[in-house]
Amino acid sequence: MGAPVARIDGRLKVTGQARYPADTPLHNLAHAVMVTSTIARGRIRRVDTTAAAAVPGVLLVLTRDRARGQLTAPKFGTGGSTSIQPLNEERIWHDGQMLAIVVAETQEVAQEAADLVAVTYDHDTPSAGFDASGVEIVAGAGASPMYPEDPKAGDFDTAFKAAPVVLDATYNTAAQHHNPMELFSTTAEWNNGHLTVYEPSQFVAGWRAQLAKQLDMDAANIRVVSEYIGGAFGSKGPMTPRTAAVALAARLVQRPVRCVCTRAQGYTTATFRAETRQRIRMGAGRDGKIRAFSHEGWELTSRPDDYVVGGTETTARLYAYGAVHTKVQLVKADRNTPGYMRSPPETPYVFGLECAMDEMAEKLGLDPVEFRRVNDTQADPVSGKRYTSRSLMRCYDEAAAAFGWQRRLDAGVWKTGAMRDGDWLVGLGCATAIYPTQVAPCAARVRLTAGGKALVQTSAHEIGTGVRTVAAQTAAQALGLSVEDVTVEMGDSALPAGPVAGGSVSTASVCSAVLKACGAIRDKLYRAAAVNSGPPATPESFTLRDGMAVLDSGRSAPLSALFQKLGTTQLEDYAEFAPEGSAPGAVEQLRQGNPGIIGGAKGPVLMYAFGAEFVEVRVHARTGEIRVPRMVGAFAAGRIMNPRTARSQLMGGMIWGLGAALHEMTEIDPRHARAVNRDLQDYLVPVNADVEGVEVILVPETDTEVNPAGVKGLGELGNVGTSSAIASALYHATGRRLRDIPMRLDKMLQLQQA
Ligand code: MOS
Repeated sequence: MGAPVARIDGRLKVTGQARYPADTPLHNLAHAVMVTSTIARGRIRRVDTTAAAAVPGVLLVLTRDRARGQLTAPKFGTGGSTSIQPLNEERIWHDGQMLAIVVAETQEVAQEAADLVAVTYDHDTPSAGFDASGVEIVAGAGASPMYPEDPKAGDFDTAFKAAPVVLDATYNTAAQHHNPMELFSTTAEWNNGHLTVYEPSQFVAGWRAQLAKQLDMDAANIRVVSEYIGGAFGSKGPMTPRTAAVALAARLVQRPVRCVCTRAQGYTTATFRAETRQRIRMGAGRDGKIRAFSHEGWELTSRPDDYVVGGTETTARLYAYGAVHTKVQLVKADRNTPGYMRSPPETPYVFGLECAMDEMAEKLGLDPVEFRRVNDTQADPVSGKRYTSRSLMRCYDEAAAAFGWQRRLDAGVWKTGAMRDGDWLVGLGCATAIYPTQVAPCAARVRLTAGGKALVQTSAHEIGTGVRTVAAQTAAQALGLSVEDVTVEMGDSALPAGPVAGGSVSTASVCSAVLKACGAIRDKLYRAAAVNSGPPATPESFTLRDGMAVLDSGRSAPLSALFQKLGTTQLEDYAEFAPEGSAPGAVEQLRQGNPGIIGGAKGPVLMYAFGAEFVEVRVHARTGEIRVPRMVGAFAAGRIMNPRTARSQLMGGMIWGLGAALHEMTEIDPRHARAVNRDLQDYLVPVNADVEGVEVILVPETDTEVNPAGVKGLGELGNVGTSSAIASALYHATGRRLRDIPMRLDKMLQLQQA
């Protein structure tokens, strides 16, 4: 364990042999194209399918009239996702809402016919966003189990009024779309009443349960397959209405049907990260100790769904604040329902908090690193519960040293514009990364043959993070094999139920289940070894290594001999891992579609992973162009199963954070409540030329409390804090505070003119 093993599926991916769901070859396949609304608010008056149905090769135009009453299940799971039933109601809730599905012999015919579906609407004026008239504001607390209440402690108002140094600032984060490289798609095939769905999914176990409800079937007759996923980031977590609709279409035409969404359709029929507005008030003593902290957030959501991220759940606990006040509100507009996107709560809310920390440090005249140190804590300021482990300041110290933070201190920590290099204004900045350590129930089956080959099976998902490789390493280590001798099968609901690939739970949950199954196999081998080999000293001295069973220092036996004793050629164990503190029957609940994620601040102790990120920013004095030549992040996330895949996740996260800071934004037309830049030409993400130096430091940390594997997830840690580190450096370079992301050069120019 802990070896930097290259991805076991890397070669398959780069040679095109990894099969993504839409690649599945199927005989007699028909093709489907979605028809989506061109208005954001109103009602469908009429859908005229005459012209579409007349196109030669069209097999079906599935409209509300045809589907009504058949796809009516409530929304998916317990978390965020849409409750809109587009083939069951006439209301238009948002632009680009699915209205019909056209099925034809070829993709081209389906597209032509889809263009001919004529929809007439009763039109209402939509509310596009925060500042539109007609939005409705509701409480965020209690809107979802993800955010049960606004954390509070002490008397904020009194403490804030009495504080000698205060800050009151507002921050804005933009709407963003995931834009996974692999488009959204559904392929459905029926076989004697059995349904198989091939679709990129972060939760095949849950989707099977939900599809059963939507189609009123027995889940045993449904299989969801998602062996490889070309990027997900939360967007493929909640099932969307298309999945069941395509399954229904396939049943009606009695052929397998594939529907691949266009990239633009992905903007409106899947989820997105909602824009937020945040007000932060902070009061501190002259000693630098924070005495009062208030974080209020407004998040955009759709009219019908109270989707909330509530990042104050995390920000309220990050430092020793004294009094804490938080409040999250939802702003309901005529937009599609938002959903999870990489670090859903932390990315926007920690941006606000860490920008405020930087501003407060300046007011106090303190080094921003020292300001964090003064307010560091090993216990939750809200509940008093302790953190199982928290290495935040070690991360700061290691990253600061590697980055050369001293240069800023030498230049005068709050002397802005002091590091000018010709036409370039240079600034250095830093911020904290934090992400809850979460874990979920998981089942796994492990089979070991006498020949020393192992097979690991779980329905958990490889969404690109490397968990398939890490699962192989875990089994290899536990069974004394080399990684090449382990095959891992994932992403198929026919396999033992695995968790949703969300909340950074996969490595901890899967490895805990695999360890349990391997442990059972090892015990069987130990018992076999114990018979007539003379007693091995203890079960602990019995290890599996290099295809041998090592009884103790003096004796070892080939695996095959033990299998012979057992009279079998293979041993198999099915294990269910339920994290400590899970509800009873957690694995059965998982099969019913309840992800059962626990951890973070919800248990009796706080479990979080931390990091510190430092960036250098250069701003061109005349053009306002912003460059980020260097990023250094140090992260402490418990046991690192594979430093190579861990580094990739953290590096990718920081690059994502750079994108959020400087590039990414879904532009919404305020008149039509429509995403304008719905393609990768206009939706800006960082390219190679935007990313120069990125250094990842893995800070050793041991935490035996979080889960049996000792793993804190890190897939969502790296992109938290990056945007505020960039804002901090930008201020240091220019003396201008930007409080909204993305921070683009047009904003720099506006500030320069102001
Ligand atoms: Mo992740 S946004 O928790 O799928």
